[in-house]
Amino acid sequence: MPETKSLVVVTRKIPEAGIGLLETKFSVKVNPRNRALFAPELKNFVKGADAILSMLTDKIDKNILSAAGKQLKIVANYAVGFDNIDLTAARKMRVTVTNTPGVPTEAVAEHTFALLAAISRRLVESDRFMRQGKYQGWEPELLLGVELQGKTLGILGLGRIGSRVAEIGAKGFGMKVIYYDRGRKNHQLDTAISSEAVTVRKLLTASDFISLHVPLTRETAHLIGRSELSSMKKTAILINTSRGPVVDEKALAWALESKVIWGAAIDVFEFEPKLSPELKNLDNVIVTPHTASATIETRDAMALLAAKNIIAVLEKKPPLTPVK
Ligand code: GLV
Ligand code: GLV
Repeated sequence: MPETKSLVVVTRKIPEAGIGLLETKFSVKVNPRNRALFAPELKNFVKGADAILSMLTDKIDKNILSAAGKQLKIVANYAVGFDNIDLTAARKMRVTVTNTPGVPTEAVAEHTFALLAAISRRLVESDRFMRQGKYQGWEPELLLGVELQGKTLGILGLGRIGSRVAEIGAKGFGMKVIYYDRGRKNHQLDTAISSEAVTVRKLLTASDFISLHVPLTRETAHLIGRSELSSMKKTAILINTSRGPVVDEKALAWALESKVIWGAAIDVFEFEPKLSPELKNLDNVIVTPHTASATIETRDAMALLAAKNIIAVLEKKPPLTPVK
């Protein structure tokens, strides 16, 4: 009798590289809809799965895990962040959780600089200006921005992405890098680029640019609120490619509107996918729809890594990148 194949459910269509690899070994069911599944749909969709390949937009809680059934062995999240998964429940049910660390480092770091350059040189505003036919000829003070060279880049959260941002800032743009990572120092980085570990307070007050690279946890929720924004320089620019709720978005809108800081460029939102209406009409903020890791290279590599984690666990081998 042929052995029945394990069932892998994939909650959104991901690049073929990952799906194809899974299909060589398992029965694979991919969400056919061009949107995330609502909780009741997801509950139904995961029934009987040995593995769930989930997105950061899926809330994987106790209900979903139990709905899958006792045979469930792994949830492979198609993301670095895993704040969408109830790790305690997964652990209790002996379900392995994996993520895709390392893979999007370059894409997110590059997007951070795309945002940083775009806001400091007012690219979106300039593009709008041209298209609206407002350009009447060269002017000495038209759309003045600020330079990166010699400025202080403050990095909150010095993981892989934060470290890469530090390196690009220092080596590529000649920025002075300071950082805070739960009081830890990265001696290797400090030697390489003369970066310096500082207190959060110092980081907020001394930085010209502040870039957030922390995971979303109870400790980092609303890490940046009204009082933090108030202690920044009036010329400060805030970049967020981490998770929306790390910033109190109402406070950010207030700070931008009342010029408490100069500008912001954000890829993630507190009430994602909603954009706070207060931000919508401000010229000193640039917004991108959570696309920091959205490169062909990275999304393929994420699909492959998630698939390989599933293959390892279903073949009773250790996963490549377990969440601890
Ligand atoms: C994207 O936000 C990720 O966590 O990979
Ligand atoms: C992500 O991979 C990070 O550690 O920053």
